[in-house]
Amino acid sequence: MSKKNTKNVGSEKRFDKGDQIELYIEDITEDGDGIGKINGYTVFVHNALPGDHLVTTLIKVKKNYAIGIIHQMHEKSPMRVKAPCPYAAKCGGCQLQDLSYEGQVEYKANHIKSSLMRIGKLEESEIKWDGFKAMTEPLYYRNKGIYQLAMGKKGEIEMGFYRKRSHDLVDVAYCLLQSKVANALMKKVREALRLSGISFYDELTKKGALRRIMIRTTTPNQGESVEAMLVIVTTAVSSKLMRFVKDLEVLDSKIKSVYININDDLGNTNMSDQFDHISGKVYLTDYIGDVAFKISPQSFFQVNSVQTEVLYDEVVTNVQAIVDEIRASSEDQVEEKDGNKGLTVNGGKGITVMDLYCGIGSIGAYVAKKMPSISKIIGVEVIEGAIEDAKANAILNGLSNTEYVVGLAEEVIADLAEKHELPDIVILDPPRKGCDSSLIDTLIAMKAPHIVYVSCKPSTLARDLELLVAGGYEVKRTVGVDMFPMSTHVETIILMANSCSKAKK
Ligand SMILES: C[S@@+](CC[C@H](N)C(=O)[O-])C[C@H]1O[C@@H](n2cnc3c(N)ncnc32)[C@H](O)[C@@H]1O
Repeated sequence: MSKKNTKNVGSEKRFDKGDQIELYIEDITEDGDGIGKINGYTVFVHNALPGDHLVTTLIKVKKNYAIGIIHQMHEKSPMRVKAPCPYAAKCGGCQLQDLSYEGQVEYKANHIKSSLMRIGKLEESEIKWDGFKAMTEPLYYRNKGIYQLAMGKKGEIEMGFYRKRSHDLVDVAYCLLQSKVANALMKKVREALRLSGISFYDELTKKGALRRIMIRTTTPNQGESVEAMLVIVTTAVSSKLMRFVKDLEVLDSKIKSVYININDDLGNTNMSDQFDHISGKVYLTDYIGDVAFKISPQSFFQVNSVQTEVLYDEVVTNVQAIVDEIRASSEDQVEEKDGNKGLTVNGGKGITVMDLYCGIGSIGAYVAKKMPSISKIIGVEVIEGAIEDAKANAILNGLSNTEYVVGLAEEVIADLAEKHELPDIVILDPPRKGCDSSLIDTLIAMKAPHIVYVSCKPSTLARDLELLVAGGYEVKRTVGVDMFPMSTHVETIILMANSCSKAKK
């Protein structure tokens, strides 16, 4: 933003709660609050967007920052739009409904680049930015939703999501992020509930049965139709509940699988570990591109199937670039074998990929299916159940070049380093907190030649990248992918190569 906050506030002068200050908003936080600065002092303003020129009332004042609400808008950001969702102001699901989709894309691309420069200490030219993959139709993309349920004061059914940072239920007739099939199903759930006579759980009295419903819908492969799975979360099962399920199945033939989750926990946990299958299929089959995955109630599966394919295609592009490079530099080039040129590079061993933090093995399975010339893909994940799913998915897709290990990525990679087993390519897809620093140290020490880092949080990616670059890695390509339109979340994929000679101070 070119405009700056120029109000002359002495560095020793701090504000008080209730003060009103004029501000230009320059950026947004990961929580969706606007960021403005006065003489280096940061003010976070709820619901403000980059480009807004406003007066804020401070509601919290700390030594290094303050939090404000909008008191008066002098000039709206040119990127402000009327939120497409009528519930946006109340519901806590989205943060960027008021920002045009173009503005969201600009914000997300800038956020990645500025994090890599500010936290990762990279020069802009070192980022090797290769573009941002926006979503062509950025609505109705979610394949999973958890709808909270309650009986309203006037005896009407309330179904929807919690207001931000609260347990106030916002009753929504539809949600622009959930799939269209899930939206149609919500209507029928409401209808069937109205006739059911089931009691609803009351958070205050801790009495009643029905608490929430999870709806999962599939993104079908060619020629197949969308299927839905319902998980009904309740404190108890009754004949009325079973009747409701039967009625619902008659109302919507897309319901192919129903589970009940008994959750009598007095706290806020959405679901317990007890899932009872009561009707239809035990699991659904969903797809990323043409790679199939078994989906059960607890399966971790990316919520935006369309953009996950875009993300995984970027991983494949990077892996392919590495394979081409290895093939070009390999002394034992071989003749084409079943169309899989390069199968016996590396002195006959072929190419090994480690898929660290693999979850249900989806990235590895996608790469394995697209690139059968890779000799081995080893998935590593700490959750045993996810590895069970990964193995089942490998069988479902007829993959013979995948292996899976249950364990901590940092420990598994340290074991490999000890045995001097060097993978050709390491894929990293850690949780939001990023990689354990010992894993980064091991990768640097073993000089793992190529890394593809998939990250859902630019700040922790940048932190890890600074270490990797200092340890001899060079960024070859950076791409952003919008997996969560209307929210501040963004995915980044970075291709890195070890270039020990170019270690950075
Ligand atoms: C962002 S998810 C990635 C899932 C998967 N790659 C995908 O695309 O669906 C991160 C995964 O890392 C796992 N995880 C977290 N810490 C880990 C660790 N130290 N070692 C191995 N896996 C870990 C989590 O259980 C989770 O499945």
